[in-house]
Amino acid sequence: MSTPRSARRPLIAGNWKMNLDHVAAIRLVQDLALRLRGFDHKMVDISIHPPFTDLRTVEGIIGADRLPIQLGAQHCSSHEDGAFTGEISLAMLSRLSVASVIVGHSERRQFFSMTDSDVAATARAVLTHDLTPIICVGETGEERESGVTHEVLVRQVTAALGGVDRGVEERIVIAYEPIWAIGTGVAATAEDAQTACQAIRALIASDRGEASERVRVLYGGSAKPENAEELMGMPDVDGLLVGGASLGAESFAAIIAATATCYGQTAGKS
Ligand code: PGA
Repeated sequence: MSTPRSARRPLIAGNWKMNLDHVAAIRLVQDLALRLRGFDHKMVDISIHPPFTDLRTVEGIIGADRLPIQLGAQHCSSHEDGAFTGEISLAMLSRLSVASVIVGHSERRQFFSMTDSDVAATARAVLTHDLTPIICVGETGEERESGVTHEVLVRQVTAALGGVDRGVEERIVIAYEPIWAIGTGVAATAEDAQTACQAIRALIASDRGEASERVRVLYGGSAKPENAEELMGMPDVDGLLVGGASLGAESFAAIIAATATCYGQTAGKS
């Protein structure tokens, strides 16, 4: 392919949000596994982020069938343990072979009052437990219209880096998720996604130098099979955080296939 795809290993992460109980999860993961057998996706990292109550079940399937899928969570506590009713600790997630945690998704920020400093504390806790934080940033539609997208990204990325010690930058993932694109069916254009992801990398570079070249920056917000290849063709878009389209094995596998194609592999079977 002649597309200027990124030099980093791509990551396609599926955020199930509050969908699919553990029985539905079995069906989806088995269907996905079957579809993944149909094409070469070795160059693509795949993670799924089911609700907490599914994790044990999904861990079992991934382990038993040695599936090429990493298990992730959607959130966690920044505290080690104790009186935090309703929260889930990193030690608990580690015991279930969870490899990554989405941190500061806009829905956590918006509906559960997660602040920039909570995001930093949670990212720090995730790293302390040797898991990967997938830190979400992104502007609202209003902020975009008033032309302050860059300021929002500066604030959110700078705050998040406060939770990331020097030398461990390559263990983090940042997801640029413009809020106006989440769940709306209207994704950012590939050019806009590239501009924002590049700006995020530049912000990391201004504080951490060339380590920024090793940080994966994802795009999220109405990513789907139809726009995956174009988005993944952008040099600073290192992956996708997929919500709605990760709830179906067919569409999620198609996004992975588009990514594999983009990274020079043959996708799909005749
Ligand atoms: P969406 O969600 O793909 O349904 O827009 C993305 C996300 O919120 O992570």
